[in-house]
Parts: sequence; C-alpha cells; structure tokens
Amino acid sequence: MSDVLVRVTIDGREISVPKGILIVDAAKKLGIDIPVFCYHPKMKPVGMCRMCLVEVGRPQRDRATGQVVRNENGQPVMQFAGKLETACTTPVEDGWEIRVDSPLAREGRQQVVEFLLTSHPLDCPVCDKGGECPLQNQTMSQGAGTSRFHFDDKQHLAKKVPLGELIFLDRERCIQCARCVRFQEEIAGDPVIGFFDRGRKLEIVTFSEPGFDSVFSGNTTDICPVGALTTADFRFGARPWEMNNAPSICPHCPVGCNLTLNTRREAKSNGREVVKRVLPRQNEAVNELWICDKGRFGHHYASGPERLTRPMVRRDGVLVESSWDEALSRASDGLQAAHASLVGIAGGRASNEDLFNFRRLVEGLGGTPFLQSSMSGGEWVQKVGLGSSANLGHLGKGDAILVAASDLHQEAPLWWLRLKHAAERGATLTVLNARPTRLDAYATHVLRCAYGDTEAAMLGLVNAVRARPELAKYPADAGVRASAAAVTSADRLVILFGQDGLDFGGTEAMARAGVSLLTATGHAGKPDCGLVAVWPQGNVQGAWDVGVWPDPDRAREALSMAKSILIMAADPLGDDPALAETLPAGSFLVVQELSMTETAQRADVVFPAQSFVEREGSFTSGERRVQRFYPAIRPLGDTLPDFEILARIGRRSGVVLADTASEALQAMAADLPDYAGISYQTLAQVEPQWPLAGGDDLYLGGTAYKNLQGLGIPLPSAAERGEPIAVNLMEPETARGRGTGVLLVPVTRLYDRGVTLRHSKLLAQRLAEREIILNPEEAHRHSLSAGEPAQVHLDGRAHSVTVRTDAAIPAGVALVPRSVGVPIEEPTRAELCRMPEPVTP
Ligand code: SF4
Ligand code: SF4
Ligand code: FES
Repeated sequence: MSDVLVRVTIDGREISVPKGILIVDAAKKLGIDIPVFCYHPKMKPVGMCRMCLVEVGRPQRDRATGQVVRNENGQPVMQFAGKLETACTTPVEDGWEIRVDSPLAREGRQQVVEFLLTSHPLDCPVCDKGGECPLQNQTMSQGAGTSRFHFDDKQHLAKKVPLGELIFLDRERCIQCARCVRFQEEIAGDPVIGFFDRGRKLEIVTFSEPGFDSVFSGNTTDICPVGALTTADFRFGARPWEMNNAPSICPHCPVGCNLTLNTRREAKSNGREVVKRVLPRQNEAVNELWICDKGRFGHHYASGPERLTRPMVRRDGVLVESSWDEALSRASDGLQAAHASLVGIAGGRASNEDLFNFRRLVEGLGGTPFLQSSMSGGEWVQKVGLGSSANLGHLGKGDAILVAASDLHQEAPLWWLRLKHAAERGATLTVLNARPTRLDAYATHVLRCAYGDTEAAMLGLVNAVRARPELAKYPADAGVRASAAAVTSADRLVILFGQDGLDFGGTEAMARAGVSLLTATGHAGKPDCGLVAVWPQGNVQGAWDVGVWPDPDRAREALSMAKSILIMAADPLGDDPALAETLPAGSFLVVQELSMTETAQRADVVFPAQSFVEREGSFTSGERRVQRFYPAIRPLGDTLPDFEILARIGRRSGVVLADTASEALQAMAADLPDYAGISYQTLAQVEPQWPLAGGDDLYLGGTAYKNLQGLGIPLPSAAERGEPIAVNLMEPETARGRGTGVLLVPVTRLYDRGVTLRHSKLLAQRLAEREIILNPEEAHRHSLSAGEPAQVHLDGRAHSVTVRTDAAIPAGVALVPRSVGVPIEEPTRAELCRMPEPVTP
C-alpha cells in the first residue's frame, strides 16, 4: 500500500487514505459498510457479484490544460459517470466523491439482490447459515422486499453434494461469487475445487481424489457468503443464536491459532454442554482469519466418550475407580517415597501453568522433570527467537526465510500458509531438506541433501555466509552460495527448523547453526528476525521456558532406575513399548491423562485431567507468543486441570503450589524473567486489527470472530534485550545412521494417530496410515510392491506395514509416519522384508 495519502469524500464525509486503496476499504475506515459478496479483504478483487455498486464522482479536468475545473466557490466540479461502479475493484484517487447511500446506488444494489435471489432457494428457516448469512442480511438491508421473478422458475437441485467427506455443497444456494475457489487458489495454494458448466448450471466441483483434498478446506465454509458450503461437523448441528462462544487457542501445533469455540447444551449429549464447532478468531500476527482442518475438526477428543472421568487406583493388580482422596493419598505417598529416584515426564500439550507446577512438584520432592520430546533447541529460541514484534505477515520483498528439515505443510499448516504468502510478496525463501515438500514450489532456492547430511548442509550454508576454517569441509554449491548471499543481504531473516531426518542431537546442531547464521549476518535481536523451532506439539516452547527440558538419553537412564514416575500429558510407553521392559520392577507410576493410554494402563494411580475446552490456561507458541485460552464447557465428570491435580498432590506432600490458573501464571511471571509482567489481564489485551472482520462484519471477512479476548504477548528474545549471544557449532555425528538395512525416517503427518486424533470419526479417512513410503526402485530391491503388506524389523520385533511407493523419496530410505505404531522417534536402520506367507496347515 502506498505511503501517499489521498483525500476522498464518501457520503459527504472526508477521509485521508493511502492512494490505491479500494473504495470499499476506504468506506470501511469511515465505518460505512458497502455490501459485498465476492470481495474478501484477503483476496484479489474480481468484481463478480456487482453487489458493491456505488456512484463515483471524479474531479472534472480541462481537456486542454489538464487542470481541475472549479466552480465559482473554487470547489472542484465533480463529474459522475453515467453508470454505477463496483467499489471492490475501484481504487480511490485524490479528490473523488463517492455516493454509497444515493437513490441510484441503492436501486442498483436492490436489482442485484433481486437478480441473485432468482436462483436462490427459500431455505433460510433450515439453512445452516441462517442468522449469520450475508445474503440474508443484505437482502433485508438492500433488497426490495418483492420480486418480479416467478418462484416456480427457480432451479431445484438435489441437496448436499459431498465435495469430500468434510465439506458439503448445496448447489441451489451458491451465488457464484468464487470466494471458495479463489481462497483455494490464492490463499491455500490448493486449487482442488473450481467452477463447472455455465450460467445457471454453473456449480462448484472438486478435482481431487479424495474430494476437496486440502488441509484448509473448512475456511471456505467461513467465507462462503451463503449456506452453500457446510461442514460435516456442523451441518444441521445448531443455529448460531443458540450457541455460546468461548475464545480459545488451538492446542495441536506450535502455531497457536486463535479460535472461538461455539458451544451448546443438547439432548443427544444428555443435556451436557458440547463444542458444536470451531471457528477462527482474528489474530493478524498469528493466523489472520484462517485455521487448518486439524484445528477445526480435531476437537472431539476433548469431550469424547473415551475420556477418563474418575480417578483410578490399582487394587489387587487391577485399575479401579476410586475417590480423589484415595488416589491423591496413594500418589503422594508413592511419589514422596522416591526422593531423588523420582522421575517426571511431561508432554508438550500441557499448558504453561501445568508445566510450571509439574516442575515445582517434581523438583520439590527431590526428583528430575523431563519433557518428552525428540527435538531440541528451545534454549536457542529463547535467545534469538522472533522477539516482541513477531509477525510473519511483515515479511516480503528484501527479506529472507530459511526453512530447514521440516515438512511445514504437515507440521504447522498456518506457518506454511504465511510463509507461502511472504514468498509471494517477494521474500527470498530457501528450503533445505532431504526430500521434496510442498514448500519447495514457493522457494527461490531448494537445497537438497541426503538424509544424514542435513546438519552438514546447514553448516555449508553457515560457512558460505562467513567462511570458517573448521567448516571448510562442508561443501557450498551454487545454490548454497546464492542462498547465503540472500540471507546475508536480507533486511530481515527468519529461520525455521524441524526434525525431518534428524535425531535429538541433530536438531540441537540445526538450532545452533541457525543462531550462527542470525548472529553472523547481524540479524539476531532485530525486529521480525529470529529462530523458530517447528515443535511436534503445541506448547513445547512453553515447556522449555518453564524449565522442563527434554533429554531423551538421560530420561531413559533415569527411568531405568526410577522408584517413582509421574507422567503428565504424555504416553511414553505407547510411543515406545520397549521402554516398559526397562522400567524397574515395582516402580510406582502416576499418570495424569485425558484418556486411557498404554502408559496409564500400567499405572498405579491415574488422574483424569481436563482438556483445553474445560479449563483456562496459557500456551506459548513457537513464535514465543504467550496466549490465553478460556473454559468453554463445564468439566466432564470428576476431572481437574493438570495444574490443580499437581497442587493437590503437593498439598499432601509438603510442596506448596498455586491451585488456580491465574495464581500459577502469577508465580511463573515472578519466577521467569522472560514472563515478567505477564498476567491473564495483559494476555487479554486487544488492539484494532485490519481488515475489520468478525462481529457485525460477517459480510466482509466471513464467520471468523473478532478478537475481543486477547492477542497474546510475544516475548522478547535475549538478543533483543542486547544480551551477548555466543554459540558453539556442533559437528554432525558421523556414526549416526550407519549400519545395515534401510534408513527408516519418521515423518510427521498433520492427521496423526496420537491421543488427540486417533478416535476422530470425522478425520478417520485422512489419518496417517500404518505404512512405509519408499522409492519404487528401493521397494523393488526389497522385493516389495506398492499396496502390499511388509514387515519392518526393529529391536527384535516385527511390525507389519503397507508399502507405498513415491519416486520423490531418495533411495536407501523409507519414510514412516509417526504415531502409527512403528515406534521410532529418530532415523533408525532397519530390515524390511515381505510379509511371510501364512502357513497352511
Ligand atoms: S459455494 Fe459459496 S463461496 Fe463458493 S462460489 Fe458459491 S456462494 Fe461463493
Ligand atoms: S495450524 Fe496448527 S495451531 Fe493452527 S489450527 Fe492448524 S493445528 Fe491448530
Ligand atoms: S463485485 Fe464487488 S463485492 Fe462483488
């Protein structure tokens, strides 16, 4: 947008706006709503629906001199065109006069409404969009109230055409605005739906198999200005006015998208409150107006039938329901007895308040807390993270982005989306990975390396930026040198790293190399520059910040000698069944969980924890933005939030802990310098955002909610505070990955089979398969064929999988989705073989 301001008059009111802004947006800044259907402030205008008709007056100019003609009062003489113009496609110029509320403009819009309704059914009483429908609202505000069209001439089509199993189309209701098609093409980069046929017969169709194959598909139902697109989750589920709204934060990945949970009590749930749907809440620094389909549809675990609702204790070898009193007293006695042999393992989906109390309790009892995570680097993100102005939306021309060892589209979809847009705005994007990913299509430089060489490739880049004798052995080809030049000269530099193809030490090496790039190029601590870890869970950075850190080797060793173990929001035995054999016989195990897991089944005491929809708390996103979530429904059964379970155990064990969420956050803020000043009040602060969306503006931004409950607070980095940053680079571990067999590489799938999605009926068809994916030639070498069963031999156990082939996968490697039951967390050599023929008797 131009820095030059122009003055325009809209319905008699003057305003200065940036030159080039569209009439519709200029009017919005004055609080004047010009009705739109096809226009969306995040997409290019197309002028398809004609709903935004206005009169435009331009200053008359003398043909000979080019000077503005003035009347006797010295005012410019305005010249109105004979026809109405579309406010969504017309950028304003200095001195223009716009008439929105004029008889001519009103009549024009009235006729557009009448025309649109000629092919629209009278579904309002039953339509899902009723109550929040731009067409309904604008028919009331702009329409004539009568029609010259015969009802019988309307087209009548069968309802509910599936565009996939998640999104349904009602063809009669479509007003052909193309918002959905344009969203998929322009915003999501998934052009999997489009228009088919012409005129009245025109309809939306899907080109993909499976149908509407996009992880952003649900957003089209938010921005469809009518009830033509609905979700399988909500269709005929409730009316908007029956539901309550609770602000929340998506717990699934490190992006931390802002959500609104719509809830309602309902008979089919025995009068219980349930979450009926999940919608985006605007946060232009985090998720703008969008969420991915995991965040939208992956909420059912939070109140599903598999939830634990009562405490359990082991009696006579069997887990049975118990009172809180008995469970707490058993847990407290067992945990206290261990002293230094107490080990705590927490998962990165727990909230900050939970993790803070967890650390205090475990350490207070003399034990050692660990985070269960196969990825390192959080300490470096604290030092050179994005800092207090973090907003990936600021990146564009002149900036550089490096994404290393990550399949961002699957691991953090909204970051993928926002970096795609940054690249489209002109940022130089480098993707460094051992296999192709969806981000490659938007990259200026794709640096491909062999699995096992990712750290070396990153060190090659570090050396190309600033030559160091000890790094001379790491090669820099033309691509690496070009990328190094872009990184060095960039105004802003953002580096994201994941764990694709890396072990725990490898991720630490990548983090350090990232720090080195930021410091060597002078970007560390600068606004919108920094290091971002693509964590496997939503609040891993929060765990690092409160001091619950991962250390897989030490944790394994500690567990093998533990007398007592406290597990919160983690399933280590489910992730690695072999671990069960290493636990000392008779060790005492306490588990806090949402539902029964492999680990909980082995426990002596199981506490039923509350999910994020039943309680309040805060998460710290991968960009280090602390964000608050609120209770949406009443807690299930006898569940308690994790921090409170810990506080109750602490009370019986002589460790005083905060037993409300706000007190826990207060204690954190007092204890952790980075969190100083953070409270639920400061996290709830908001400021105006552009575009104006949500609230009454359904017609403009769709059903995304306006953010009235908090934009969160991005934490400053140490570099931003001016603290010196020193980093030692790590040489790649040369012995890693050596040995015989194929290199099995665990990869992250968005729709995994972890605790939160494995029971999802809605996403069942999209959940990660128990499969291996390998190059067809590699498959052939092992006498394996696509679609056939095979066996993976790991640690003396055989795991059955299905073979899938993909020519893009490098030779010598087999990818295995995490969470499908093949227990590997880091690249591991294994033997592959065909499934043995069944023995016939
Ligand atoms: S389905 Fe909705 S968003 Fe898509 S073209 Fe039709 S009315 Fe527009
Ligand atoms: S991108 Fe991540 S945080 Fe956002 S909705 Fe999807 S899973 Fe949730
Ligand atoms: S033509 Fe302007 S909103 Fe559709």
